[in-house]
Amino acid sequence: MSPSHPTFLYGTAWKEDRTAALTELALRAGFRGIDTANQRRHYFEAGVGEGLAAAYRAGLVTRADLFLQTKFTYQGGQDHRLPYDPSAPLTRQVAQSMAGSLEHLGTDYVDSYVLHGPSSGHAWTEDDAEVWEAMRKERDAGRTRVLGVSNVSLRHLEQMAAAGTEMPAFVQNRCYARLGWDRDIRAFCEKREIVYQGFSLLTANVEVLRNPAIADLASHIGRTPAQIVFAFARAAGMLPLTGTSDAEHMKQDLESVNIALPPEVVRGIESLSG
Ligand SMILES: NC(=O)c1ccc[n+]([C@@H]2O[C@H](COP(=O)([O-])OP(=O)(O)OC[C@H]3O[C@@H](n4cnc5c(N)ncnc54)[C@H](OP(=O)(O)O)[C@@H]3O)[C@@H](O)[C@H]2O)c1
Repeated sequence: MSPSHPTFLYGTAWKEDRTAALTELALRAGFRGIDTANQRRHYFEAGVGEGLAAAYRAGLVTRADLFLQTKFTYQGGQDHRLPYDPSAPLTRQVAQSMAGSLEHLGTDYVDSYVLHGPSSGHAWTEDDAEVWEAMRKERDAGRTRVLGVSNVSLRHLEQMAAAGTEMPAFVQNRCYARLGWDRDIRAFCEKREIVYQGFSLLTANVEVLRNPAIADLASHIGRTPAQIVFAFARAAGMLPLTGTSDAEHMKQDLESVNIALPPEVVRGIESLSG
């Protein structure tokens, strides 16, 4: 069964000292899903926690209203600000990273815990199997509801399946239109009831946003090209992420949930460039 989740995730990467204010603003705008990572290089997870605390204090939301997702990141993806002892075994690193995330976010559980990319671009390795097992233990102990993997290839997923490994509830990938919007992985996910989370839907697909047919369609229905891309993503079965820092764009991104694209338009966008 698919995990429960909101219709949009607000991404908190690259916001540095604006993280708390933007997280609170996103909640005010109506986002209920927040994506972060215990990876100080790209995310300020403690700032996300500050934004959540401000929203709780203001009576905007309670913890139970939210879907909080964070990640375990290997040392190779981190800078010197590590959330664990790098000399500890990976199992211990996962436990330390999770404990840090819960402290940053001011909660005793997250809704989704994601492996922030396997250790190798080529295969699901023994290190990945160890980390995944440690993440399963975190889940079994109630510190996350479900597990996910990010930045994976079809090969990674097929190797997990072939090894009889428990499959993730979420796959989070950068979604390029020129790769058929990650068609093969989305098909794999659909078969196994894995929810596909797409990021960089706008930044990786500038050519789609500039496509005259998309611009025409957008102006015809009084929307923006960005909204068409998000509406397409949803129609194609994805759970989209946005990392906007702009209050108006937050509203527009959420509004895209209400755009119903006809199936032939969805098929047309799907085959635009790949
Ligand atoms: N798993 C991973 O390895 C990984 C990697 C990258 C990202 N992520 C996650 O995904 C999140 C989103 O990242 P992203 O790469 O998709 O986005 P992003 O880098 O945060 O950028 C979104 C871009 O789209 C623009 N935008 C958003 N809504 C718009 C609208 N309605 N109209 C026009 N422009 C709009 C934003 O500009 P404005 O700010 O001006 O609106 C911004 O330039 C991250 O914060 C992070 O949580 C995960």
